[in-house]
Amino acid sequence: MEITQTLLLLPTLFLFFLLSGQQGLLVSAAHRHHTPRHLFDWQPTKLFVFGDSYSDTGNNRKSEASSWKYPYGITFPGKPSGRFSDGRVLTDFLAKFIGVKSPLPYRFRKIGVQHLKYGVNFAHGGTGVFKTLVLDPNMTTQIDFFQNLIKNDSVFTPKDLHFSVALVTVSGNDYATYVATNGSVQGWQPFITSVVNQLTVNLKRIYDLGVNKIVVIALEPLGCLPQSTAEFSFQKCNGTENALVGFHNLLLQQAVAKLNNETNSSSFLILDLYTSFTSVFKNKGDLAGSIKFENPLRPCCVGVSSGYYCGSLDANGAKKYTICQNPKSTFFWDNSHPTQQGWRAVYSTLRSTLEELYTN
Ligand SMILES: *[C@@H]1O[C@H](CO)[C@@H](O)[C@H](O)[C@H]1NC(C)=O
Ligand SMILES: *[C@@H]1O[C@H](CO)[C@@H](O)[C@H](O)[C@H]1NC(C)=O
Ligand SMILES: *[C@@H]1O[C@H](CO)[C@@H](O)[C@H](O)[C@H]1NC(C)=O
Ligand SMILES: *[C@@H]1O[C@H](CO)[C@@H](O)[C@H](O)[C@H]1NC(C)=O
Ligand SMILES: *[C@@H]1O[C@H](CO)[C@@H](O)[C@H](O)[C@H]1NC(C)=O
Ligand SMILES: *[C@@H]1O[C@H](CO)[C@@H](O)[C@H](O)[C@H]1NC(C)=O
Repeated sequence: MEITQTLLLLPTLFLFFLLSGQQGLLVSAAHRHHTPRHLFDWQPTKLFVFGDSYSDTGNNRKSEASSWKYPYGITFPGKPSGRFSDGRVLTDFLAKFIGVKSPLPYRFRKIGVQHLKYGVNFAHGGTGVFKTLVLDPNMTTQIDFFQNLIKNDSVFTPKDLHFSVALVTVSGNDYATYVATNGSVQGWQPFITSVVNQLTVNLKRIYDLGVNKIVVIALEPLGCLPQSTAEFSFQKCNGTENALVGFHNLLLQQAVAKLNNETNSSSFLILDLYTSFTSVFKNKGDLAGSIKFENPLRPCCVGVSSGYYCGSLDANGAKKYTICQNPKSTFFWDNSHPTQQGWRAVYSTLRSTLEELYTN
């Protein structure tokens, strides 16, 4: 099985004990007045990115990842670019928001200030905070790479880091791995706790290296990803899986509040993808009505049968997937990742939270 074809496997999650009603209680962003940015003395100039396929822009090896195969990248940049989408991903939208170019993947770095001007993207599709099915740099190792650039290669100064934002995505690969390698019902609660604890250690480490603002995603509703909704003909989400997500997000919210308290700062910010995704599903698009998805749960690009994925070819090179007419009309691109238009709709719901980057 080509693991990187579908990075968030999560075929079966058994949990019966987890809270219901916890999801969606995260950080409802206060609608801030949109104060002109130039009124603040802090304007970021660099973005550092850690995590998985929700933020990777090309760190996966070309020989292994579906993100380097047609039809990935057909919308932007027009050919596969290592992004797990038809086009731009969350990283690109966040970079645009803070006013920098999307930083180069670490794999393409050349030591030299010019190449690292906008920061570095260390995120690697398929990874998690722990070892996953993809044998690639976990988040600890990604932060080690960052630390080496700072401490060993002196590429970034403390001032650079002060004027920096970090994006951290953990979108479910640790849980997919848990399901594939253990899956014990009793083990869920301690496992989720250990994932969030490790994530918290990672966030603190990025802060201690000097990054001023650290943005971390809350888990998206895993039970609404096409890999989970296919059995319901993409008509409804799996609530059992979403309850699991609710527990992760509750712990994350508590951990981030504690970090902000302990550091006497508002450096840590949650981007609540759970609420964003579900709001887009409910509205069948963005709030402004400029983006529309007829059935937001139905993906654009899917394998023709089980065992095949978006981008799969058979031994004769024949396509084993189907692709929709217009990727702009679907929220999901493949089994687990949004389209560029999907990310754009999500981003529109996150803008008011992101304004908080500019407060102390
Ligand atoms: C939902 O997800 C759970 C956990 O993965 C699974 O056991 C169940 O079969 C799925 N479907 C329904 C209808 O709950
Ligand atoms: C991350 O990966 C490294 C290298 O494989 C390993 O030594 C380390 O224990 C891993 N860290 C975690 C938290 O799993
Ligand atoms: C630090 O830099 C030295 C000299 O460039 C190199 O030999 C060493 O491997 C680096 N250490 C790490 C941990 O990357
Ligand atoms: C699976 O989870 C159970 C419950 O937490 C744990 O006791 C057991 O050691 C785990 N097995 C593996 C192989 O990780
Ligand atoms: C921060 O932590 C301290 C010490 O635990 C506690 O007394 C204080 O109430 C906390 N402040 C907030 C805003 O949570
Ligand atoms: C936290 O910040 C407040 C306001 O700036 C300051 O008065 C206080 O001394 C700080 N506390 C610590 C522990 O840094």
